[in-house]
Amino acid sequence: MIKISPSILSAKDRIESIKQLNNTTAEYIHIDVMDGKFVPNTQMPLNEILELEKHSTIPLDVHLMVENPIEYITQLKNKNIEYITIHLEINKDINQLINLIKSYGYKVGISIKPNTSPLDLLPYINKIDLILIMSVEPGFGGQKFMPNSLEKAKILKEFKEDITLEIDGGINDTNIKEVQKYIDIAVVGSYITNQTNYNKAINNLKN
Ligand code: DX5
Ligand code: ZN
Repeated sequence: MIKISPSILSAKDRIESIKQLNNTTAEYIHIDVMDGKFVPNTQMPLNEILELEKHSTIPLDVHLMVENPIEYITQLKNKNIEYITIHLEINKDINQLINLIKSYGYKVGISIKPNTSPLDLLPYINKIDLILIMSVEPGFGGQKFMPNSLEKAKILKEFKEDITLEIDGGINDTNIKEVQKYIDIAVVGSYITNQTNYNKAINNLKN
């Protein structure tokens, strides 16, 4: 069954949102970190991530949409974190970042934007735990799902059958049917946080 990682990016009150998610069947909580440079939006500075982490009983799935992940990763030791995901498109030493995340005992993800080829991930595919395929241009919640993102999932599974694939952007109760054929973890933001009963929304997605 597909795992759900709710994104609290668009929630009205992120702490209240996490408290509600603690009582659902969500496997992870997705934290969207934006630096205003890698993406044209600034969200979840370090102090907010640390505050949110204290409230969560569910492991965090941290998505770093930032030019310089090292500044964040080094401040996130010994936390309730399952995955830290960086972007392939940054101009940094990816192998060094992979090793740093692993040295803290976290699983490592690499994300690709809609215009990035999945083949660019091949040098790293055997060193990482997860690939996060962006199904919208990163930066904002509430955008429309790009169906061609699933083509990337098919290609990546051909190269490595047991790689964990996650998708992020525009997922809802309609497209989840197709998504779950290829994807292990779905990040779902506004579809969940726009509803009052999160548990019902998540169970709808898992049906
Ligand atoms: C986009 C973020 C996503 C997104 C998910 O940059 O990484 O996590 O906000 O939200 P929805 O499901 O509303 O597209
Ligand atoms: Zn995200």
